[in-house]
Amino acid sequence: MQVITTCAEMTALCREAPRPLGLVPTMGALHEGHLSLTRQARTDNSTMAASIFVNPSQFGPNEDFTTYPRAFERDLELLAAQGTDLVFAPLPDEVYPDGFDTWIEPGAVAEGMEGAARPGHFRGVATVVAKLFTITRPDRAYFGQKDGQQVAVIRKMNADLNLGVAVVTMPTIREPDGLALSSRNAYLTAEERAAAPVVYRALQAAESLWRSGERNANRLQAAALAELQREPLVSAVDYVSVVDAATMAPLNVLEVGRPAMIATAARLGSVRLIDNVVLARVNT
Ligand code: PAJ
Repeated sequence: MQVITTCAEMTALCREAPRPLGLVPTMGALHEGHLSLTRQARTDNSTMAASIFVNPSQFGPNEDFTTYPRAFERDLELLAAQGTDLVFAPLPDEVYPDGFDTWIEPGAVAEGMEGAARPGHFRGVATVVAKLFTITRPDRAYFGQKDGQQVAVIRKMNADLNLGVAVVTMPTIREPDGLALSSRNAYLTAEERAAAPVVYRALQAAESLWRSGERNANRLQAAALAELQREPLVSAVDYVSVVDAATMAPLNVLEVGRPAMIATAARLGSVRLIDNVVLARVNT
């Protein structure tokens, strides 16, 4: 496994690497969610590359960029054990040198939910992912459904800008009690951690209503919200939204043949958790 810190060297190595090349972009502090992506990328490709870069441009001024969990040496051990060929781990100045001044601005797909709650977030995500795609020119790139709107933003950018990468979405990996794995779960106190499965439980309440035939988005949202509000440690709910799974456009009514996603962001104490469930019929 080679660890590369400059864009030029990463580009040179990727150009010579056996193809297909699969890329797994991460911000490090790796857990089983990330490793499910590297495992699939390892299986699918002759070369597997991962990036570890805590991208400053996707954090708001009052967000957790400086305190975001960092575990570089352990991440390298995990990636080596996964059979990773190339690890791209640049410093911020290498990705955003002095005078950097060109941004990818996603459109409507990035307007609601996380885009509304975190202004500028998806501009930062889209820009860094476009740069990672350009630096490594992967055949495939792997993302988790955990960040459902992020996948939609990246798919749209990839299509709109003809980047030509096969974007692979992998299912959300959860703890046994349902909590979606996230580097930010480390911020939860023991009490908050015990309460945190409420986020997935709320989505499942809506999902089971949908399975029993409910197609009105407001009623699905209300069911999820009610479940969240039953938990006293939930200090705020940023949103519960039912959207088109590809465009992220809000839906009033769910229709056959139009996959939907119900997504939420809720705060447990001061920790903000996001999760989503896709509502799509498999056999009709
Ligand atoms: P990060 O939060 O480190 O996540 C890296 C990848 O792992 C993302 O595609 C994310 O959706 C996926 N992931 C995280 N938790 C997961 C889980 N529980 N199950 C399945 N997949 C999971 O997302 C980012 O970094 C950044 O925004 C990035 C795309 C790297 C751009 O900076």
